[in-house]
Amino acid sequence: MRKSSIVGTGSYIPKRVLTNADLEKMVDTSDEWITTRTGIKERRIVDKDEAASDLAYKASIKAMEAANIKPEELDMIIVATITPDMIFPATACVLQEKLGVRKIAAFDLEVACSGFLYGISIASQFIATGMYDTILIVAAEVLSKIVDWQDRNTCVLFADGAGAVVLKPFEDGNQIISSCLGADGEGADLVGVPAGGSRLPASLETVRSRQHYMKMNGNGLFKEAVKAMVQAADISLQKGGLTYKDIDFFIPHQANIRIIKAVAKRMGLSMDKVCINLDRYGNMSAASVAVALDEAVREKRIKRGDKILLTCFGGGLSWASLVIEW
Ligand code: COA
Repeated sequence: MRKSSIVGTGSYIPKRVLTNADLEKMVDTSDEWITTRTGIKERRIVDKDEAASDLAYKASIKAMEAANIKPEELDMIIVATITPDMIFPATACVLQEKLGVRKIAAFDLEVACSGFLYGISIASQFIATGMYDTILIVAAEVLSKIVDWQDRNTCVLFADGAGAVVLKPFEDGNQIISSCLGADGEGADLVGVPAGGSRLPASLETVRSRQHYMKMNGNGLFKEAVKAMVQAADISLQKGGLTYKDIDFFIPHQANIRIIKAVAKRMGLSMDKVCINLDRYGNMSAASVAVALDEAVREKRIKRGDKILLTCFGGGLSWASLVIEW
């Protein structure tokens, strides 16, 4: 079975900055509350006419440039998103058209915040079997368009951004060592968008009652997040024959600084090994870890031979963890 290698990373962050001070003017909140309870200081928000595929395109171009490959070399495109351009067709097909590469496999993956790591893990199976050689995995989120800007419980947390990687069979350089994927539908009601699907189709009433916006039970998620992230990381490390002592750099999902600190503490990892971008970008769901990985690579925070742990948790409930030797 062939191992997989990340041969290029890219990301795109919208220009428009929304600070905690801006949010103070929109809902009953304060910079002090947001900073101490979440760690977020500011986040990026798209323009009115920007959609997930626009962000995905920009991140993909950068990842392909870094990988030194042309779109026509791609065998498959996976887009992880909970904010697709529309319910269907898949944003991955829209992206395929934008990239000017036709007829290759393209599909969306809807696993909330865990989508990017699910995507890499799925793609690596196609590489392992020899079915495909060059796969683009993109996480693109425009959460500002499903957040209720009147709900202070959620609107201070979520934001927009995209990150991408190109995966190829391992030859030289980094290699994916192991992964763990999981889900627990018992927690499905903890976070989601109730209306607009087949259970509660769009109607005047669903719009009036704001059911097309994200609803979240923050406290319930907090406890589950810490538990699930540690368990997923434990399993991925065990599979790779490693322990937390071997880990040089940890990229956790960026939901809340208190979740990240609790997770790192249980793992026995010092915070200088932990990648944080939520202070600048908030929670970008699947894109959070993707953007963090790209920035860490470009800033050379990750060095050849480093053992990297990436761990996510999100709606579904879902979780995923990946170990990479860089
Ligand atoms: N500004 C000011 N006050 C706020 C607020 C805001 N933006 N949002 C909530 N509050 C209030 C609440 O109304 C509550 O007030 P009350 O005690 O008068 O009812 C109080 O702050 C405490 O709320 P609580 O929910 O207990 O706060 P918390 O410390 O648990 O933090 C979250 C809330 C959402 C930040 C935190 O629970 C969290 O990050 N959860 C995980 C979220 C997550 O991972 N979501 C996505 C999955 S990827």
